Amino acid sequence: MIENPRIAVVGLGYVGLPLAAALSTEFSTIGFDIDEGRVKELKQGHDRTGELSSGALRDAPLSLSATLSEISDADIYIVTVPTPVDENNLPDLNALRKASQSVGTVLQSGNVVVYESTVYPGVTEDFCGPILEEVSGLKAGTDFYLGYSPERINPGDKVHTVDKITKVVAGQTSEVSELLARIYGSMNNGNIFIARNIPTAEASKVIENAQRDINIAFVNEIATIFGKMGISVYDVLDAASTKWNFLNFQPGLVGGHCIGVDPYYLAHAAQEIGLDPKIILSGRETNDNMSKVIAGRINDLLTGPSKLLVLGITFKENVPDIRNSKVGDLIAAFKEQGHDITVFDPLADKEETLDEYGIELSDDLGSGYDCVVGAVPHDVFNEYSLRELLKEGGLVADVKGMWRHRSLPDSLRRWSM
Ligand SMILES: NC(=O)c1ccc[n+]([C@@H]2O[C@H](COP(=O)([O-])OP(=O)(O)OC[C@H]3O[C@@H](n4cnc5c(N)ncnc54)[C@H](O)[C@@H]3O)[C@@H](O)[C@H]2O)c1
Repeated sequence: MIENPRIAVVGLGYVGLPLAAALSTEFSTIGFDIDEGRVKELKQGHDRTGELSSGALRDAPLSLSATLSEISDADIYIVTVPTPVDENNLPDLNALRKASQSVGTVLQSGNVVVYESTVYPGVTEDFCGPILEEVSGLKAGTDFYLGYSPERINPGDKVHTVDKITKVVAGQTSEVSELLARIYGSMNNGNIFIARNIPTAEASKVIENAQRDINIAFVNEIATIFGKMGISVYDVLDAASTKWNFLNFQPGLVGGHCIGVDPYYLAHAAQEIGLDPKIILSGRETNDNMSKVIAGRINDLLTGPSKLLVLGITFKENVPDIRNSKVGDLIAAFKEQGHDITVFDPLADKEETLDEYGIELSDDLGSGYDCVVGAVPHDVFNEYSLRELLKEGGLVADVKGMWRHRSLPDSLRRWSM
């Protein structure tokens, strides 16, 4: 097959950009995105997702473009566009449809189209393949070939980066699988697992995140039970995790566009074939309800409408990504309870937060609060003096246990799950 492939990565977000940069050190690589603003920023050396430093971006021999014709001579297309859910929690495949249509217009005989977006089994071959065929007039499996390689990177995680994690690949033929193993293997020392076929690779990714979601839901459920019993779930987990086979998941809000979304893809696929994925959907319901549970527990410890400082709005610690953050639900619940809320997050973009949640981020921390809610454990919050933020008798509501081991003056009260 193709000896020295030219690669086009379609979609330059959290997944596409680091991947394109890593591949560009071995292969002629171009990154394409429909968002002209994003491409312009990247060309200026700024990655707003924080995944690549400006140095890494400048050093990567990567071409960038928002013009489709500029990727028309690629041999391999790697599609890394979003796969969210709609308002009914059903898979929204629109970005995949549009990206496949775009690739279809430039597709040529002998090309390979690899999808990296998280999907349910069957999407690559039964949804994307036919779109590529229709637009290009070529036939999948004979004129061009499909492949799937799930992405496992974790936003903000500087340890498990694309060059260090095992990459699962699958091609429509064994030659395509071998080609993908060679391409991806060039960036991670050959650390490749070739899955039996494309649906197996798709299934493997979606269950990785569904499994995490279910395990976190279990811990959230026991956190709620033990909370009512006056037992700290963190103390319980410390004790239980000394057993060799105990799975040590942490309680909390499950947001973002992976763990809180992907299980719905699997549930949808199950329902389409007449099954009722009870465990998967029950896990989702438990996790989605946690903002209400947490707001209820904190409210019980306050005497009427109070002045609250919420620290953190992003969906997880130390990242700027606010998409599908469950802190938005937590704040909405506090507002419904009549509290006066200040939200502070130095990592989040102010304008984006206002657009997405209607929440105005404060420029400064302020003081004199009845309660400080540690919603997202950004490292920077460790430096704050809780004593200076709170009134005498104020409550430290430590949602993620980030101040668990910090001693507090007797004048402050503390709540954690
Ligand atoms: N974020 C993660 O850490 C992560 C981890 C594993 C898997 N995934 C999966 O990878 C996929 C991409 O996620 P992401 O976080 O990188 O998304 P993202 O929103 O950060 O980036 C997607 C990019 O694709 C671009 N795009 C959208 N439609 C396009 C089109 N038709 N043509 C070209 N570009 C287009 C957007 O402008 C955006 O820049 C999703 O399926 C996600 O579930 C994400």
